[in-house]
Amino acid sequence: MNIDGLSAIVTGGASGLGEATARMLAENGARVTIFDTNGALGKTVADQIGGDFRRVDVSDTGSVAAGLSGLEPRICINCAGIAPGAKTVDREGQPHAAEIFAKTVNINLIGTFNVATQSAALMATAPPLDEDGARGVIINTASIAAYEGQIGQIAYAASKGGVASMTLPMARDMARAGVRVMAIAPGLFLTPMLEGLPQEVQDSLGAQAPFPPRLGKPPEFAALVRHIIENRMLNGEVIRLDAAIRIPPK
Ligand SMILES: NC(=O)c1ccc[n+]([C@@H]2O[C@H](COP(=O)([O-])OP(=O)(O)OC[C@H]3O[C@@H](n4cnc5c(N)ncnc54)[C@H](O)[C@@H]3O)[C@@H](O)[C@H]2O)c1
Repeated sequence: MNIDGLSAIVTGGASGLGEATARMLAENGARVTIFDTNGALGKTVADQIGGDFRRVDVSDTGSVAAGLSGLEPRICINCAGIAPGAKTVDREGQPHAAEIFAKTVNINLIGTFNVATQSAALMATAPPLDEDGARGVIINTASIAAYEGQIGQIAYAASKGGVASMTLPMARDMARAGVRVMAIAPGLFLTPMLEGLPQEVQDSLGAQAPFPPRLGKPPEFAALVRHIIENRMLNGEVIRLDAAIRIPPK
């Protein structure tokens, strides 16, 4: 699909991987709407790229429906997410708080489901864009934690495992409508999620990647989003974007 002139939604577009994706899409001529709970950052990014910002909590179906009103998205990129850490049983012998588990799944998995399904419904009734009958592309953000969750990542890994597993059945569901569904499973990227860590921790995390031995840069994520949108044969697959890292338990 040619990005130029299409309407695009980017959740989590106020920061990190979503922000880089929103910038890339705008540079390539898309009309971008950022969905995020961070109004200050979201509006700033939207203003810089000539796009729109809508305050949307992806875990709330009504908020997503309100955010989508009046839009005709052809590109839907889900980057909103949180990554809290908690062990199955903590040092004091207390079980993992169910509220933290539920919140993580609500934002990362159900939030992705909400935005993807509601966008898919809008794409399905739009006219085809090319001779294949393509109507849109949905790209969800999983994580390598879907496969190699670390100590303290049961909630995050479960949520991202769900995002990865949804990819093929959602692509199959939407095939008749000409909507492709893909997911990206990033390794370690330098975004505000990791920028809070001390430099030596960032360096040692980056050095775990075989090649290149560094943290990924958000524009490298956005570059894969662009390729997925433009390559009509990519569908129903989760792509690891991780410099061959296979993350250890901690
Ligand atoms: N940075 C990494 O190394 C890495 C690795 C693997 C996967 N990921 C995934 O990539 C995605 C983006 O991560 P990032 O590193 O850019 O993080 P980030 O914290 O920089 O950005 C996440 C954005 O999501 C928004 N958000 C959070 N909850 C929301 C909600 N309920 N509704 C709407 N917006 C909400 C935040 O306000 C923020 O702007 C996440 O899903 C994350 O799990 C990141």
